[in-house]
Amino acid sequence: MMRTTLLAVLLSLAIVNAILPLSPPVPKYEHAVRFGNTKAKNVFEIYIALSCPDCKALWNDVVLKLINVPSIKDKVAFEVRHFALPYHTSSFELNKALLVVAKNVTEGKAEKVKFDFVKEVLLNQDPIYNEPLLDVTTREIPSIIYDKYISKVNPNLSKDDFLKMMSERSLWEEARATFKYATSRGVFGTPTILINGVPIYNSGYMGLMDWIEYLDKL
Ligand SMILES: *[C@@H]1O[C@H](CO)[C@@H](O)[C@H](O)[C@H]1NC(C)=O
Ligand SMILES: *[C@@H]1O[C@H](CO)[C@@H](O)[C@H](O)[C@H]1NC(C)=O
Repeated sequence: MMRTTLLAVLLSLAIVNAILPLSPPVPKYEHAVRFGNTKAKNVFEIYIALSCPDCKALWNDVVLKLINVPSIKDKVAFEVRHFALPYHTSSFELNKALLVVAKNVTEGKAEKVKFDFVKEVLLNQDPIYNEPLLDVTTREIPSIIYDKYISKVNPNLSKDDFLKMMSERSLWEEARATFKYATSRGVFGTPTILINGVPIYNSGYMGLMDWIEYLDKL
C-alpha cells in the first residue's frame, strides 16, 4: 500500500516535471533535396545558398558530374539543404521557395521538381544577386523567383498559389527552422559538405577528382 502510494506520488511528479527537449525547432517539412542512390549508407550532404556563386561552381563542376560517375552513383545518397545567408538579399525567400516548389505535384515527382529548381537557380543566378535587387522591395522578390524559375520547373503551381504560400507565417517559421537546423549541424557558410555527418572544412576547395578519390575509399 505504502509502495503504491509512493509510486503514485513519484509518477505524478514526473508528469508535472516532464522534461522537454532543449533544442532548436525541429523542421516539419522535408527540407532535403534527395538524389543519387537515396538508400545508400554513404551520405553526401551539401549545404548551399541558392544565391551563392561558390555553390554554383560546386554544383556545376562537382555535383552534376559526380552523380554520373559509375563508381560513385550507386554507393552515395546526395542530400542538398539550404542555408540562407543574411548578406544575400534573396536568400531567405529562395529558401522558402525551395520548401514549397514541389507542393501539389504528382506523386513521385517531388524530388525531381526540387532538384530542377536547385539546378535552374544555380545555373541562372544573375537575377537574384544583390545588385539587381537594390531597388526591389522584399515583397517583389517572390514574384521574381516565380517568373524566373518556378514557372519553368513547376508550371502546375500557379503564381497566385505560390505567392499566397510565400506570404504565410507558417512557411516563414519553417524556413527559420531549416536555418537553425543547419546551424545546429555546425554550418556557418556555403557550400559546406558533410560526409556521413562529418564536416569537411575545405570542401569548397576540393575538385571533382579529389571527391572521386575520397568517395571511392568509403
Ligand atoms: C502537372 O499536371 C499534369 C496534369 O495534371 C500532370 O500530368 C503532371 O505530372 C504534373 N506535373 C508535375 C511536376 O506534377
Ligand atoms: C493544386 O492543383 C489543383 C488542381 O489541379 C488546383 O486547383 C490548385 O490550385 C493547386 N494548388 C496549388 C497550391 O498549386
